[in-house]
Amino acid sequence: MKILLAITGASGVIYGEKVLKELAKTRGVRVELVISPSGKELIEEEIDTSVDELLSIADQTFDPSDMAAPPSSGSSLYDAMVIVPCSMSTLSKISCGIADNLITRSASVILKEKRQLILVPRETPLSTISLKNMYNLSQDGVVILPAAPGFYSEQDEVKDLVNFIAGKVLDSLGIKNDLYKRWLP
Ligand SMILES: Cc1cc2nc3c(=O)[nH]c(=O)nc-3n(C[C@H](O)[C@H](O)[C@H](O)COP(=O)(O)O)c2cc1C
Repeated sequence: MKILLAITGASGVIYGEKVLKELAKTRGVRVELVISPSGKELIEEEIDTSVDELLSIADQTFDPSDMAAPPSSGSSLYDAMVIVPCSMSTLSKISCGIADNLITRSASVILKEKRQLILVPRETPLSTISLKNMYNLSQDGVVILPAAPGFYSEQDEVKDLVNFIAGKVLDSLGIKNDLYKRWLP
């Protein structure tokens, strides 16, 4: 399974870090990574792991300005693309087909090739524009997976909340995981 992971400039880059680390250690998964310039700023702001450390975990990395990188072509055959966290800016661009950097271009390629696109938006409250964009993307088969952890599975620490969202992303990808405690009434 070949997955393109993108980290953009929304709060919650820790979710992207966790998804990256989980995918990297999943047998049979190849994870390729691209981080937007704003995503790099948020990484420096919010987590202890450096951008270079994150990049070193992936099987391959791309510069977000490299429009000729493999994911910009449908012939590269990715199984899925995950954008976590996904800024409203990137989400809006994807929703209306703007492909002005490698992340937005790759997302539009994933859509035209009818492959799986998972977006983890982080913003609150949501404007009508953002809600409409999410609705339109959902109509196109995109998984909108808000960074909104559940509190029903004995979470004591921030790490548990992060694991909940990372686990949901892996669930959407069809990757078995025990990152969060499932509801067993
Ligand atoms: C500290 C900080 C936190 C931000 N948090 C968010 C956020 O949670 N959600 C969001 O949509 N944008 C957020 N932004 C704004 C985006 O970073 C900005 O729109 C940027 O242009 C996104 O670019 P990108 O999508 O190419 O990464 C934040 C910006 C800063 C400086």
